[in-house]
Amino acid sequence: MPRHWRAPFSFILSVFILPLCTSAANSFENTAIVRTVELGGALVHVTTTYAVKALEDGSSVYTIALAEREQAHTSWLEAKLKGESERLPLEDFGYHQDSGVFLYTIELPKALNVNQTANLVIETVQTHATYAWPEEAGQKEGQSLKYETELLVLSPYKTAVQRTKVRSPSPQVHSYTVPEEVEFTTDAVATKSGATITYGPFYDIPPSATSEFVDKKQKHITVHYSFDYPVLEISKLQRAAEISHWGANLNIDDKYWLHNAGPRLKGHFSRLDYQTQNYFGRPGPHTIPSLQLHLPAGIHDVYYYDLVGNVSTSRLRTTPSLPKGAEPNQYSVLELRPRYPIAGGWNYSFTLGWDSPLEDYAGYDKTTGKYVVSVPIMTVIPGAVVDEAEVTIILPEGATDVDYVVPWPALSETLSTHITYLDTVGRPKITLKYAQLTDKHGGNIYVTYKVPFSAHLKKPLAVATAFAGVFALALAWKRVDIRISRK
Ligand SMILES: *[C@@H]1O[C@H](CO)[C@@H](O)[C@H](O)[C@H]1NC(C)=O
Ligand SMILES: *[C@@H]1O[C@H](CO)[C@@H](O)[C@H](O)[C@H]1NC(C)=O
Ligand SMILES: *[C@@H]1O[C@H](CO)[C@@H](O)[C@H](O)[C@H]1NC(C)=O
Repeated sequence: MPRHWRAPFSFILSVFILPLCTSAANSFENTAIVRTVELGGALVHVTTTYAVKALEDGSSVYTIALAEREQAHTSWLEAKLKGESERLPLEDFGYHQDSGVFLYTIELPKALNVNQTANLVIETVQTHATYAWPEEAGQKEGQSLKYETELLVLSPYKTAVQRTKVRSPSPQVHSYTVPEEVEFTTDAVATKSGATITYGPFYDIPPSATSEFVDKKQKHITVHYSFDYPVLEISKLQRAAEISHWGANLNIDDKYWLHNAGPRLKGHFSRLDYQTQNYFGRPGPHTIPSLQLHLPAGIHDVYYYDLVGNVSTSRLRTTPSLPKGAEPNQYSVLELRPRYPIAGGWNYSFTLGWDSPLEDYAGYDKTTGKYVVSVPIMTVIPGAVVDEAEVTIILPEGATDVDYVVPWPALSETLSTHITYLDTVGRPKITLKYAQLTDKHGGNIYVTYKVPFSAHLKKPLAVATAFAGVFALALAWKRVDIRISRK
């Protein structure tokens, strides 16, 4: 799989089917565009505010454009009106051949008449948009990253004024591009103040979502900055959630393949240097000693092991189960301490799992006779990207009428049957695959199913039969034994 292969965008497309006839028919102009890039490690958050003005009555569909590079790195996109919390319906029109850009349309909650205005806020999260530079660093050296983007925000409409702010988490910005021969301004193209570089203002930009504009007027910029936090990538995550009515238990079993995407460690790892750095309270940002994870409240029997075996150096503070319907604002906090610090470029894989009371996640709907269980899609690790995720949910044996709702569309979904040794009819199993999940992609998968009363009885029957089998086998062994000993 190519490294930068993308997930479909993370909005619920199927819910919002836009009438196609309205697309691109409405016209607007941008009175102002402000793009703010919050530089990070594995994730970069970009917020773009469009102050728009309708040029004709009944304008309700606004189009935004993403350049190819932007599109290639964007794995989360949402549109809202400024100050509102409701997400606006968004439709992906894909690559527009003639314009060389990717187009999305946003449906405004209310059509605008001539000269009426609205403020649209588009939030995106980019993954793998930064890279370590230099690519290698000694253990005692700092960590710096580069981020590349385009100077101008593209739009199918003309724009009165626009600017881009690039904010570094550290005031240590080593360098930033100041493009030459930029039209649309007579002033400085870029100004830096503290940790923020402002490009623009640029004035009177014609409709720019065209290949011609991109070829002739667009400029490329690079910002090189110091980054004092780990660049954490989860190359692969496999979550298996097993629902058991017998044990009234929800077991979560996560397999992680972690990659430290900071600069590759130059030379050998020195534990002495590492301890000295820690002693002086200045651990290198590209060596990851531990991870703090927010696990759900109410968990028990937490296990954590890697290829070598159990890892016992972690600290866990559990929180009791929250009352039903409470905001999930309390967590069990796990300070996960790998067997060795993970240096830049290193990988570390491990398994982390726990049990939870099923009642914390399950409900029963009397009217439909169905159980409803919510399964968290993943444990969100702030700032980390999950390149590939596979979530499987194993339902109780004999469950029927299985249905589920996902918070984000999956790349693939399958419903199959999982047969373990004591099962007779097998357990329905849901498998969902995702790519490029970010810290915006938390949320629950809701599964509904029926467990007929007869299914409850299957287990003891199966156990009894299995036991009978074992007894028969034991008996046979005994006979063989006797015969041998007689000889
Ligand atoms: C819209 O605004 C422009 C410029 O301010 C003005 O000339 C025009 O008459 C306005 N149109 C309407 C329908 O109000
Ligand atoms: C790991 O810990 C679990 C739970 O404490 C225990 O059941 C298991 O036997 C241990 N495995 C090893 C290899 O030590
Ligand atoms: C670490 O994992 C990445 C991604 O899975 C892989 O490309 C790379 O070769 C691995 N590196 C090492 C040192 O094993």
